[in-house]
Amino acid sequence: MSKKLYIETLGCAMNERDSDHIIAELSDKEGYGLTNNPKEADLILINTCSVREKPEKKLFSEIGQYAKIKKHDAKIGVCGCTASHLGDEILKKTKAVNFVLGARNVSKISQIIHKDRVAWVDIDYDDSAYVFSQGNISNVRGFVNISIGCDKKCSYCIVPKTRGKEISIPADLIINEVKRLVDNGVKEVLLLGQNVNSYGKNFSTIHRAINFTQLLSEISNINGLHRIRFTSPHPLHMDDEFILEFANNKKICKSIHMPLQSGSTKILRDMRRGYTKEWFLNRAEKMKSLIPQLTIGTDIIVGFPGESEEDFLDTLDVLEKVSFDTMYSFIYSTRPHTEAKELLESGKIELVDEDIAKNRLARLQDRHKELLGITNQAQLGQIHEILFESYKEGMLEGRSDTNKLVRVSGDESLVGSICNARISEVRGAQLFGELV
Ligand code: 5AD
Ligand code: SF4
Repeated sequence: MSKKLYIETLGCAMNERDSDHIIAELSDKEGYGLTNNPKEADLILINTCSVREKPEKKLFSEIGQYAKIKKHDAKIGVCGCTASHLGDEILKKTKAVNFVLGARNVSKISQIIHKDRVAWVDIDYDDSAYVFSQGNISNVRGFVNISIGCDKKCSYCIVPKTRGKEISIPADLIINEVKRLVDNGVKEVLLLGQNVNSYGKNFSTIHRAINFTQLLSEISNINGLHRIRFTSPHPLHMDDEFILEFANNKKICKSIHMPLQSGSTKILRDMRRGYTKEWFLNRAEKMKSLIPQLTIGTDIIVGFPGESEEDFLDTLDVLEKVSFDTMYSFIYSTRPHTEAKELLESGKIELVDEDIAKNRLARLQDRHKELLGITNQAQLGQIHEILFESYKEGMLEGRSDTNKLVRVSGDESLVGSICNARISEVRGAQLFGELV
């Protein structure tokens, strides 16, 4: 009987990929198989997110729950971003945890599971040689890290502290990894990095000069690869060269994540985002003019310290003008190791009243929902290329080039194929189509 691993993954795509890597390592080197029942696991891992305070607070009650139901000799490990910044505080706070492994140290997983009561959270550790998951490829989509860490200094964000300095993975390694995935049946790759379009600044080994736009172009030359997506680009680095490649390269999916954070130039300055409201609008409008079917996703923070009603109206104004497809929106949460926290503590900036922040979030989300209803209705009758990823309850499910989730009736054997479908029904956010 093989040992069983239960893993809970919180947060972003980067964490999902790290979890994939952990699963592959523990399967290859330690003989673990996955279980989705923590009660029967020999090892329970929580891959944590630290971007906001609330999920982080829940971590300890969750550890308590696992400790209660786990097999008596099962181990519990905390990995990821909260592991990075709390480190051995986690061990001090609870006896239930056997080890703590930071987000920059994923590759050490098969060593640390044999230790007890240790925390390995070095953020300068170079994990870049281990960024590709070696596991079985069972999906039509593959995740490929192109960089690790983040060199930005957004004043609200803890990530540079948890994931460390930015390192780009040599392009030749990335290309080989994409080829390996394609040889194993992958049709679409998702390139990952905290700031994908600052790619190329600091390579993990000596390497030829290449920027993100050139990387996209080289990857698109790989035979058998059909689709390229990436996340997240930074609006500041969306130069014309990038926009033209994005618009003209047929393999690049016409959907982009553009994290706005705020529509107010004053707040953007305080957040240290490096761009203005006008720059953001100009980039979005330029892309939309070149690619009429483009969908744009975003992240927005409301209630950043000092945000006035007028600042918030600027955010609503950008929402109105860009009409984002997916929108992840959050109330500002004060995080340790950030500039905004320091400024708050020294009294240089002030928190926004909680009720006001909640009200703004609700107004933003309501308006987004209304706008999305209108844009989704406009999908009726449109034909999209869908890559079918799964078959559930008698329906094929997949994503359009523009990243819309579409369900279509058809044969299960079409999973893994790209087919044209006409959108025939819109039910809220759900799109249904028919093969054409
Ligand atoms: N408070 C609220 N939201 C935050 N994010 C990052 N840091 C914070 C914070 N301190 C959001 C940003 C980012 C997304 C991943 O999480 O919008 O793009
Ligand atoms: Fe991902 Fe950021 Fe959460 Fe870390 S803190 S898991 S990088 S979203």
